[in-house]
Amino acid sequence: MGGGGREHTLVWKLAQSPKVKEIYVAPGNAGTAQIAHNIDVSPTDIPSLLKEAQHHKIDLTVVGPEAPLAKGLADQFLIRGMQVFGPASRAAQIEASKAFAKELMQKYNIPCARSASFTSYDEAKEYVQQQKPPIVIKADGLAAGKGVVVANSVPEALEALASFMVSKSLGEAANQVVVEEFLSGKEMSAFAFTDAHTAVPMVPACDYKRVYDGDQGPNTGGMGGYSPPSFYTPELERTDFETIMAPTVKALHNEGRPYRGVLYGGLMITPNGPKALEFNARFGDPEAQVILPRLKTDLLEIMLAITDNELDRVHIDCTDDACVGVVMASGGYPGSYKTGFPITGLDDVDKDILVFHAGTKLGLDGEVLTGGGRVLTVVATGKTVAEARRKVYANLPRIKFAGCHYRKDIADIKD
Ligand code: AMP
Ligand code: GLY
Repeated sequence: MGGGGREHTLVWKLAQSPKVKEIYVAPGNAGTAQIAHNIDVSPTDIPSLLKEAQHHKIDLTVVGPEAPLAKGLADQFLIRGMQVFGPASRAAQIEASKAFAKELMQKYNIPCARSASFTSYDEAKEYVQQQKPPIVIKADGLAAGKGVVVANSVPEALEALASFMVSKSLGEAANQVVVEEFLSGKEMSAFAFTDAHTAVPMVPACDYKRVYDGDQGPNTGGMGGYSPPSFYTPELERTDFETIMAPTVKALHNEGRPYRGVLYGGLMITPNGPKALEFNARFGDPEAQVILPRLKTDLLEIMLAITDNELDRVHIDCTDDACVGVVMASGGYPGSYKTGFPITGLDDVDKDILVFHAGTKLGLDGEVLTGGGRVLTVVATGKTVAEARRKVYANLPRIKFAGCHYRKDIADIKD
């Protein structure tokens, strides 16, 4: 389920499994249409998805984005005895409510930023006035990347608070607000597969959220990424897993919210060690595009082991290769943009370059057109991040569409 670059990557990876016969994607994009059957149903229309899954006798449903998980898609499938990869809504709360996630982290001593949660604007305002900037203001609910403001002054923090809680700029998502200490350090996305008992780390990635080079301009869904992070060491892998990822899986289980699927930890590597900024109940986008090409183990085997509560029987293996992915976006994104422009040069890239589609659609004659803000993620692998980066940037200019823009500094590691 889903129609972005992450979902094209999941479909591409699953299609490599000898056990996979047919894949249906709701709604998919022009990329998934080449290797699977697209079904024109929204990933949050649970009744229609249930009908489609029953009609096509789907053996395993894989959920890409967070909204259907928060809405209880997995619960609805599971009570009908249908297998699903992705957590039930009680466990997906780890992403759907930041206040819940913080409460859990505090209760189980999982390292994170100091914070307080509020449902009253007046109380939040009083608390903010006592804090030293920068101050981080977060909407509790799902807000498609618009729910976090890092304020550099108290007035700026109060403005964000008023916009969330008084003007209701994000609607219900900000009925509750988390006010948090600012953490500085290096940011990375950690992933763990889990069946609620066993947790196994997957390789991590770094993601670039701002639209322009040098981390300038507004936030986006993600403009590119690479794996492994330049600062990643076996020592860091161990502390991330032992102090954050595994204890979170255990905490959820303890709270009667068994988590099955892939857990995504947004981590800040601070001078005092790794701390959790947030958790997501799914793969990242564009992180999936740069970690799944590194996975050697059959992804279907991992997913089936999770749905069978037998993850301990699977060994998860990844290559030592590095992977760099750059997002090509529509002119104007993340603001308003036009779609329907032809994309040329998709077949002109080198044989080992992966082109994952996101906002693309097929025209009347089968031509590929732009259909969204993030249009493609172009991915290269190499022995090192530098090699993968050279390869991807040598190929990007061959793909063209009107208004296209992309960052030139993805994986340009300066530290
Ligand atoms: P989140 O959705 O919680 O990952 O927040 C979005 C972005 O805001 C993160 O990727 C960070 O860059 C930034 N952020 C969130 N929380 C903090 C924090 N406590 N300190 C510094 N930056 C933060
Ligand atoms: N790349 C950030 C996310 O998927 O949430």
